[in-house]
Amino acid sequence: MKIRKAKIKDIDSMQKVIRESILATHKELYPQEDMEETFNNYTVEKLKKYILNDDYFVAEDNNEIVGCVLAKEDKMRSLYVLPSQMGKGLGRKLAEIAEKSIKDNGYKRVWLWSSLIAHDFYKHIGYKDVKDIPNEDGLLLHIEMEKYLDPV
Ligand SMILES: CC(C)(COP(=O)(O)OP(=O)(O)OC[C@H]1O[C@@H](n2cnc3c(N)ncnc32)[C@H](O)[C@@H]1OP(=O)(O)O)[C@@H](O)C(=O)NCCC(=O)NCCS
Repeated sequence: MKIRKAKIKDIDSMQKVIRESILATHKELYPQEDMEETFNNYTVEKLKKYILNDDYFVAEDNNEIVGCVLAKEDKMRSLYVLPSQMGKGLGRKLAEIAEKSIKDNGYKRVWLWSSLIAHDFYKHIGYKDVKDIPNEDGLLLHIEMEKYLDPV
């Protein structure tokens, strides 16, 4: 397993990871339109912009992209692991790489919007709740969380 910076040529595979990861975990709790909204956050154009301007990482296993994470300024986004690879430590590893990148860029704190599915995972790796983020219909679908990074 190798974790490296994402390249433009990875975009199709990244979209596949994001889609499969969401479809495997979000169906029970999230309305279809909210899942579509999340997919729309990761169009080819948007991914291209993030790859060129921010720190986007992918995990590659036997030439297959199996996970990704985006460090955008002090925000961690887009942490997705392919369903077949979940529960093997990859999510934690990707989160640590994003945290290091955010720290290297001079920030002392990381924040994120957790899905309901990932909330206990983020708590387990040291994140604390900041506030609830309801959708337009008042449904609670995300929780803002934060973690202060250890000084060097
Ligand atoms: C959430 C997600 C990124 C976690 O990745 P993962 O590779 O399955 O998790 P890991 O195997 O790295 O787990 C790391 C640790 O967290 C724990 N953990 C994982 N999921 C957990 C959960 N739902 N609740 C509590 N602890 C959890 C593991 O037991 C492990 O503990 P340990 O290191 O002390 O043994 C992954 O399941 C995923 O992609 N989910 C769907 C997409 C999603 O919701 N992404 C977040 C968008 S905000």
